[in-house]
Amino acid sequence: PENVGILGVQMYFPKKYVDQAELEKFDNIPAGKYTIGLGQTRMAICDDREDIHSICLTVVSQLLETYSVPTSRIGRLEVGTETIIDKAKSVKSVLMTLFPDNSDIEGIDTTNACYGGTNALLNAVNWVESSAWDGRLAIVVAGDIAVYKSGPARPTGGAGVVAMLVGPNAPLVFDRVRASHMEHVYDFYKPDLHSEYPEVDGPLTNVCYLKAVDTTYNRYLEKLTTIENVPTPTLATLDYLLFHSPYTKLVAKAYGRLAYNDFLRDPENPAYAAHAQFKSLKPEDTYGNRDVEKAFIEVTKESFAKKVAPALTASKSLGNGYTASLYFGLASLISAVESEQLQNKRIVLFSYGSGLASTMFSLTVRGPTTQIAEALNLNARLAARTQITPAAFQAIMELREKTHNVRDYDPVGPVDAENFFPGTFYLDRVDERFRRTYKRV
Ligand code: ACO
Repeated sequence: PENVGILGVQMYFPKKYVDQAELEKFDNIPAGKYTIGLGQTRMAICDDREDIHSICLTVVSQLLETYSVPTSRIGRLEVGTETIIDKAKSVKSVLMTLFPDNSDIEGIDTTNACYGGTNALLNAVNWVESSAWDGRLAIVVAGDIAVYKSGPARPTGGAGVVAMLVGPNAPLVFDRVRASHMEHVYDFYKPDLHSEYPEVDGPLTNVCYLKAVDTTYNRYLEKLTTIENVPTPTLATLDYLLFHSPYTKLVAKAYGRLAYNDFLRDPENPAYAAHAQFKSLKPEDTYGNRDVEKAFIEVTKESFAKKVAPALTASKSLGNGYTASLYFGLASLISAVESEQLQNKRIVLFSYGSGLASTMFSLTVRGPTTQIAEALNLNARLAARTQITPAAFQAIMELREKTHNVRDYDPVGPVDAENFFPGTFYLDRVDERFRRTYKRV
C-alpha cells in the first residue's frame, strides 16, 4: 500500500469547563500563574456520567458517522489510554459494541502514561504496511480523563479523546523517520488503584520531558540525513511541530530547546552570536537554567507563532488530555491552517509518556485536509461549551473521588443539553458486579 497515514480525525471533549483565571482566584493563587505561568485558559471537566468507556464510545461512533465508514471496513482498532477502570478488561472490548456485525477486528489497549496513543498509532501503521494486512482500515483511539489531587498539579488536568482513521492513500502520510528515547523513571505513575490520581513528581516530569525532547530531536535529525538524505537539517527544515502538551508553557520551553540543540550542533553559526556565553555550559546542567530557557524562547518566538502556536488551541482550552494531548495538536493545526497552505509540508510530532516512553516522528501532507477540518468543526464546538464555577468543579472532583471504583451505583450528574453535546454516550449505571451500562444523548 502507498501513502499510508491518517485519513480522518475525530475528537470528543466534555461540554463542561472551568476558567483558569477563575480557578486562580478560587485557589488563592497569584493572578497569572495558571494562565501565563502554565499557559492555560480553560480546563475540560467530566462528572460521574463520563468515564473512559463513554468518551471512547462517543468519539468512535462520531468518527464512523462523520466519515461514513461502514463498520465492516474496519480490520483493526487500538486504544491508547492510561485511564483504567476494568483493569484486566480493555476499553477496546467495550468499543466492540459499536461493531455488532463485525467481530474480526485486531488490536487491543496500550498503556504507558501519555504515550499509549502513539504506540497504538504506530501499531496501526505497521499493520497496514505488513504482510498480514487484509485491505481494511484501522482506527486508533487516544483518550484520557486527566485529574490530579488538589495542589499545584490540579490546574494541569483536562480531558478529551481523539480517534484517527488509518489506511493507504491518506492526506497525512507517515514519513520513514522515527526516533525514540525510552527509560525507566518514576516521574509519574498510578500505583494506587483506589484512587484516580497519579503519584507525580512535577519538577522531575518536566526535566524528563525536556531531556526526551533533546534526545529524540537529535536522533530524528540524524535519521533525516541517513534515511531521507536531508544534508544538514535544523529547525528551519521542519514546517510544523506538535508536542505532547501537559500545559502550553512547557511546549514553548520544548520548542526553545530545539533551537538550543541547533546551537550546540553549530555553535559558530552567526545566527547564535548573541548566545556565545552558553557554549561552555554542559547541556545536562541547563535544565531549569532560566537564562538558557529565556534566551531560546526569545530566539524562537517568531517561528513559534507560525509553526507551533496554531496547534495549541485545543490544549490551551481543554488542558492535558494525556494520550490525546499530542493529537489535540493535530486536530488544532488542521483546523487552523488552510489545506492549500499545508500541502507538502512536514509536520513533526513529539510524543512523551512518563515512565518513560518518547518518540519523535513526522507526517507529510499529500492531500486535502478540508474534510478533516469540517468533520472536526473544532472552534465552533470549543465555543459551544458550558462554563462551570471552580466550586462546582471542586464538588465534581469530590464526587469522582467518592464514587471511583464503587459498585451498585447510579450516577447523579444531570443529563441535558447544558451538560452534554448531542450524540454523547454517558454512564447509566454500575451494577453489583461493577458492570457498566451506557446510554446516548
Ligand atoms: N504570573 C505569571 N507566572 C507565574 C506566576 C504569576 N503570578 N506565578 C508563578 N508563575 C510561573 C512560574 O514562574 C513558573 O513559570 P516557569 O516555569 O517559566 O518558571 C510557572 O508559573 C509554574 O510555577 P511553578 O511554581 O514553577 O510550578 P508549580 O509548583 O506550580 O508546579 C507543575 C507546576 C510542576 C507543572 C505542576 O503543575 C505539576 O506537577 N503538573 C503535573 C505534571 C506535569 O504536567 N508534567 C509535565 C510532563 S509529564 C505529563 O504530561 C503528566
